[in-house]
Amino acid sequence: MALPQRQISSATAGLLRASSNATMRSATASATMLSHRYRQISSAAAGLLRAGCGTSRKLLVPDLRPLSTATSTSESVALVEQASAVCACPDPATCTKCSYTAVDQAHALHPYSSMTNPLPTYPVKSASGVHLHLEDGRSLIDGMSSWWAAVHGYAHPTLDAAVQSQLSQMSHVMFGGLTHRPASELVGRLVDLTPEALTKVFLCDSGSVSVEVAMKMAVQYHYTLGDSRRTKFVSLRNGYHGDTFGAMSVCDPVNGMHSMFSGMLAQQIFVDAPAGPTLGDAEHCARMISNALEQRGEEVAAVILEPIVQGAGGMRFYHPRLLHLLREICDRRGILLIFDEIATGFCRTGTMFALEHNANTFRPWYSNMSEHELETSANLNTEDSQSQDGVVPDILCLGKAITGGYMTLGATVTTDRVAEGISGTGGVFMHGPTFMGNPLACATAVASLNLLTSSPWLDNVLATRAVLIESMAPAAELDSVNEVRVLGAIGVCELNEPVADMSAIQAALVSDGIWLRPFGKLLYTMPTFNCPQLTSEHVRKIGEAICRVAAKEGQNKVRI
Ligand SMILES: Cc1ncc(COP(=O)(O)O)c(C=O)c1O
Repeated sequence: MALPQRQISSATAGLLRASSNATMRSATASATMLSHRYRQISSAAAGLLRAGCGTSRKLLVPDLRPLSTATSTSESVALVEQASAVCACPDPATCTKCSYTAVDQAHALHPYSSMTNPLPTYPVKSASGVHLHLEDGRSLIDGMSSWWAAVHGYAHPTLDAAVQSQLSQMSHVMFGGLTHRPASELVGRLVDLTPEALTKVFLCDSGSVSVEVAMKMAVQYHYTLGDSRRTKFVSLRNGYHGDTFGAMSVCDPVNGMHSMFSGMLAQQIFVDAPAGPTLGDAEHCARMISNALEQRGEEVAAVILEPIVQGAGGMRFYHPRLLHLLREICDRRGILLIFDEIATGFCRTGTMFALEHNANTFRPWYSNMSEHELETSANLNTEDSQSQDGVVPDILCLGKAITGGYMTLGATVTTDRVAEGISGTGGVFMHGPTFMGNPLACATAVASLNLLTSSPWLDNVLATRAVLIESMAPAAELDSVNEVRVLGAIGVCELNEPVADMSAIQAALVSDGIWLRPFGKLLYTMPTFNCPQLTSEHVRKIGEAICRVAAKEGQNKVRI
């Protein structure tokens, strides 16, 4: 039941009234089309009526005829108006039977939330530019860019136009045995944007699915080449790769709650992530991975990791030297290397893809490290710094910002070598989701990539970075705060303790006009950075709100 009955009923009544005039005015063709529309809407409304939404309706429903039985426009109008009158609630906005928020509270399951006692949700009426507009009239500056995806902001005219234009052609057709321009254009754009060796693109539904596809590719590659022992993955602790079972198996075992699903999850090999952003941390981690491979390398299909930034597993940054070292280690052992750039891809960290980072571009800012320490630690081998493409993985996972946050789409990009390995002897790659290559999503992604590549995205990311540093740095002085860190358009304030009361914090932020979603010890923002309406004032307000929450957290702890 997606819409409250009242809304559907009154929409139907309006449509019927309009169509009634149109019919009277003329045109048999438009009357036929409209009458088709009534039938669709009428039966939706009738369905809602049958479902019932309150005691008063239950009493009245038996008297109502289904709208689809109306034989004339005037009869339909009468039935629809009768249906609208059925809900006796004085104020549909607060009616616990038919308001959409009440339906949401009673029946919709939200992410990482109780199924019976969920945290409050804030109803959003629309979104534009940098803002989420709530049903109650408040507008919030969005510091989350819809889980890091809406890099151009909301209701961007170019993206809106791309969706509408594609909609007028087709919204979806299967990709098995068929193809179309939007998918083909997107595949071409991805091949151009990613390192030269990445030539084959599998379009799929979401980030998690793109990780599943990557894992499957890696295992199938070794299997087809005659090595069926290689079914394990090496992954970093604090990593996050999605919520489907394959992806979960390579997420941090504690954050990913492996114990709850232990019977179902594949057992993988975990190594501690680099402790910090220094060269030494990266080299230590590479040694640990090398040691793990020394023990069990022959079972391993691939090493999988998020380059430079570990996102949902802790918002941690690490030195690009690790990527270079892993490339060498994997090559030596015939193991594939998978980069999960679902969060970092499309400019978020200050390069198009995080795999491109080198000594000149890797500029994290830490409240507790001096510029000098960071500069020294950023030095890479000259060879590493000179590599044009950055480190080239065997498989690259993309998602989130690929459509500018407009709709769900993932992509798994791989090399000729992997493709040859899987299909060189005639084998087929065993995956094929229903909505693979969805034309609406692909057309939007092409428009989003064109927007990115034709805009000064690097200047925009650097400007956002500068304001995040300036506005969040004061939080580092608070006793409640362990560290503030910034990389590209990512700002993180790590507290000493997990936030005391998430819903209270969120309510305070919303009254401040800011949308953020802290988790654990982390108050963080990944705002839009390529939105035409974005100003430094918006970013500053987000940074200042984070400082205020951190300060309040400190006071709460003192009071306790
Ligand atoms: C690095 C990374 N990989 C995979 C995923 C899963 O993507 P999705 O939520 O689109 O399935 C996420 C989502 O946050 C992510 O950050």
